[in-house]
Amino acid sequence: MTYLGVDYYPEHWPKEKIPEDLEGIKGLGANIVRIGEFAWHRMEPEEGQFDFSFFDEVIEKVKQQGLKVMFGTPTATFPAWLAKKEPSILSEDEFGNPRVFGGRRQYCFNSDAYRNHAAVITRKLVEHYRDEESIISWQIDNEFGHEGSDMCYCDQCHNKFQDYLEEKYSSINALNDEWGTIFWGQTYNDFSEIPAPKPTVTTHNPSLKLEWARFRSASLNQFAHEMTRIVQEEKGAHQDVTTNVSGGFFGKWFDHAENVKLMDYVSYDNYPVWGGLEEPVSPAEIAMTHDFNRGLLNKNYWIVEELMGAQGHDVIGYLPRPNQAKMWSYQAFAHGCSNMLYFRWRGMTQGAEQFCYGVVDHDNVYGRKYKEVQSLFGDIKNYEHVLNSEIQSDIAVLYDYDNIWSWRGQIQSKDFDFNEELLRLYRPFYNLNSRIDVIPADRAIDAYKVVVVPVMQVMDEGLADRLRAFAERGGTVIFSYRTGLKGKDNNLRLGEVQPGLVRDLVGARIEEIESLTKAHALELKGEGEFASVPGHISVWRDLLVPETADVLYSYQDQFYSDYAAVTKNDFGEGTVYYIGGGLDEAALDVIAEKVVEDHSIGYEKSDENVEVYRRETEEGSYLFVMNHSDEIKKHGEIDLQPYESKIIKE
Ligand code: GAL
Repeated sequence: MTYLGVDYYPEHWPKEKIPEDLEGIKGLGANIVRIGEFAWHRMEPEEGQFDFSFFDEVIEKVKQQGLKVMFGTPTATFPAWLAKKEPSILSEDEFGNPRVFGGRRQYCFNSDAYRNHAAVITRKLVEHYRDEESIISWQIDNEFGHEGSDMCYCDQCHNKFQDYLEEKYSSINALNDEWGTIFWGQTYNDFSEIPAPKPTVTTHNPSLKLEWARFRSASLNQFAHEMTRIVQEEKGAHQDVTTNVSGGFFGKWFDHAENVKLMDYVSYDNYPVWGGLEEPVSPAEIAMTHDFNRGLLNKNYWIVEELMGAQGHDVIGYLPRPNQAKMWSYQAFAHGCSNMLYFRWRGMTQGAEQFCYGVVDHDNVYGRKYKEVQSLFGDIKNYEHVLNSEIQSDIAVLYDYDNIWSWRGQIQSKDFDFNEELLRLYRPFYNLNSRIDVIPADRAIDAYKVVVVPVMQVMDEGLADRLRAFAERGGTVIFSYRTGLKGKDNNLRLGEVQPGLVRDLVGARIEEIESLTKAHALELKGEGEFASVPGHISVWRDLLVPETADVLYSYQDQFYSDYAAVTKNDFGEGTVYYIGGGLDEAALDVIAEKVVEDHSIGYEKSDENVEVYRRETEEGSYLFVMNHSDEIKKHGEIDLQPYESKIIKE
């Protein structure tokens, strides 16, 4: 069964309207609604007064339409009475200001009071509905950590941070040694002296910053796991557990794979454009978000919020063009989304999201967007076996949250952006329409042919050894700048020539480095087979001296023309590329093409902005073809109207 539906908030509308709405939803060809995720006060209007009768009635009506339900546990928005009774539940910003009641998700993950109340409502709710056949899944909370809600500097967090450090390091001297607190005379006599990294003059110790990030992640994930376990204990056997991952995941303070590890499947909220943006994020970036979500549990995932209308809280963004949001849905299905719900059935007339437009707008007319969803639901149902087929990729892009947080604490180039650096190396393979997995660096890599390792400045020997073995056996590894610079303590190593742990793999050493800006791209000189391929570098440059590697690009400027910018090394049976800075798209495209050809990895050339994604099933091969542009395009003999998408059986 493919679940297709909408997010519905029955508590937002007059009761009499609900049957008509559900009929409209059914008319879309939907078979599921998600409800409940912000309705704590409806379920517990006063402390201990549990009342699920509103949702009992809603569920009866939902069933009359033959629809199923995903129910959200309501802990992302707590009731006002709780904030009044237990002010300690409110998180604090870095200046010590508690976030007041209002908005959402302004709770502290380390508040015992919050954990207790959240545990009680979650348990009561799931217990109440464990035998409800129509509820097929539970969504835990809503978008953990989104909108800055994963950061809190309150005293509860500070105290628990000190406990966390004490447990990890046991002795304060061990911590002093590892962090190098001798610098600026920061040596601690006791764990209770260690600050949370609130604003100070200049900046905090890098090891402290990284530990704070790990602690933030552990705090959020402990809460998430506690709630997940409660649902698992109480739920019916026919009910699954998931949570909805929001966008911007590399900007968050928690490890996402850890977050979802107890879930039956991952759900993602896919918003290619939102408030204030003049245009959507690039097709490659949207694709990368799908590959990331599929990578969290290494399996196909749901989308429980797919954008249809323009979005925005106080500022509204770009309106998806006719068929564009539908095309984004096909793109999601291509990349492994197996079930999809649109956000939201109808835009709300009141509250902070008056300008988050839905499938239906406030005028309640079933218009263009309604028809787009209807036609998509009608079509996609025919491809259930394709949507459920497993995706096999030859290329993996690795990321690691310690590394991401290390960069966030010290961006080194004012134009450094982790997401962009990951995309820089993802995009060339995306442009070739190859299948790519975006996965945590601790996953098995043996089955891939190519492993891409963007800006992995924090690296331990375990990862270096796995990459070494991978290359020795014939794999291609692609590193970019700052690789292997730091250990897990976020510090450098005395006497180590860069790129440290992987110098033998790279076959080159780095003698000097320079932080560049985006605006001043340096022209490079292509060598050998790259002599006629123009190349430019920005954001960063490593100055490389080849030891066993060949030079693909060297610098041309007055003082550094003896140094290489990009190298390629034969290592064992394999090949290792080192991209010593922010190399431009054109040069990377050529490298990517050589790499896929060397490994005979399937790829298809397509026109710019036409994405092609191949899915192999037992019944043959299917091509998802998406025109991401506002012009008519062709793919082979196929004509594609602006933003048109097609599934073609080969
Ligand atoms: C999501 C969120 C929804 C709604 C939506 C608006 O991030 O999960 O509750 O706020 O954005 O675009």
